[in-house]
Amino acid sequence: MAAASVFLVAGARPNFVKVAPVYRALEASAAFDVTLVHTGQHYDERLSESFFRDLDLPPPDVHLEVGSGSHAQQTARVLERFEEQLQERQPDLVIVVGDVNSTIACSIAAAKMVYPDGRRPRVAHVEAGLRSFDRTMPEEINRLLTDSISDYLFITEPSAEENLRREGVPDAKVFFVGNVMIDTLLNQVERAAALAAWTDLGLEERQYGVVTLHRPSNVDDAKSLAAILDVLLEAAERLPLVFPVHPRTAHRLREFGLEQQASGQGSRLRLLEPLGYLEFLSLLSRARVVLTDSGGIQEETTILGIPCITLRDNTERPVTITEGTNRLVGTDRTKILAGFEAALAADAGTAARPRLWDGQAAGRIVEALEAAFDQTPVGG
Ligand code: UD1
Repeated sequence: MAAASVFLVAGARPNFVKVAPVYRALEASAAFDVTLVHTGQHYDERLSESFFRDLDLPPPDVHLEVGSGSHAQQTARVLERFEEQLQERQPDLVIVVGDVNSTIACSIAAAKMVYPDGRRPRVAHVEAGLRSFDRTMPEEINRLLTDSISDYLFITEPSAEENLRREGVPDAKVFFVGNVMIDTLLNQVERAAALAAWTDLGLEERQYGVVTLHRPSNVDDAKSLAAILDVLLEAAERLPLVFPVHPRTAHRLREFGLEQQASGQGSRLRLLEPLGYLEFLSLLSRARVVLTDSGGIQEETTILGIPCITLRDNTERPVTITEGTNRLVGTDRTKILAGFEAALAADAGTAARPRLWDGQAAGRIVEALEAAFDQTPVGG
């Protein structure tokens, strides 16, 4: 039987980390012929190419170069350009990952596509079923919509299974495979730790914290961002903090005139440019504590056994709380500082291993897809 053709889609920084192991597993399978599609949602060297290098990914086969814009603009550009690629190359399967605007745009274009011979591509969503139940979060809308139109839903944790069942998704579409972001972490963590990125910053193992912030709810409002910055400066008095700043956050710090306050003289809060995957993982691996509003970092710290203080009121990844090192503190000053103190007082965390977060998730995804395409061949 001829190999089925697959579009594997990535658009933004966390997507690259997730597609890397899936790309390798597809390449190793005789059943699939893979085309790597980059939408161009993230385009800066430090958010894109450097990740391809660190993750040993080849340059994308197709680049849509959509760039930044409002949600509607960005999503619309991906929709149009991705649809053209579907029409031209007519893949049998489209795989999307995560919850960014590229994820929803490509899944919509694929779910509505009918080729001239009547065939339709199938859609697979990796990291399906996660829900924060907060519809003010753009990612929550992307997750809900992508899941509702996907044929295969690959999930990372038990909450996703419950969420999808409650939304009426048939069990036969849902595959509990583990976590591809953790595949990448387990594959790269020794290489990353060997870089000892903390020494370049004059820091000692377990004697510093790492900060990341980029959620619109935290950084797009001047008052909220200034308040968080104040807490970080106070926490940094207790433990030096390094803060690789996401471009969204960097723009806001400039716009709100907070740059000076953030990187003032003698401050133990060190602002850095965004880091590559290996350098960031290196820093993470020896941190004493992490303060973040990222989704993926809640999972990475769980596996690494590093206390994670999450500056959000909700998480779509509850297993990082029930089994891992994550603590939700919101953005209340007292709660952030209490969480921080508790993390400092705790012994070095114990690494948790939620079910199937074992480095083999991508292999399970490709096995499930091989079986699905074997039972119902292309065009069937
Ligand atoms: C996007 C995702 C978010 C994910 C995050 C990871 C959506 C809705 N959001 O958020 O879920 O957690 O990526 O980083 O898809 N910019 C640059 N260079 C770039 C890309 C962006 O400077 O290469 C700046 C632009 O000013 C842009 C802003 O960052 O307007 C935001 O970029 P965008 O892709 O819209 O959203 P993120 O905040 O990165």
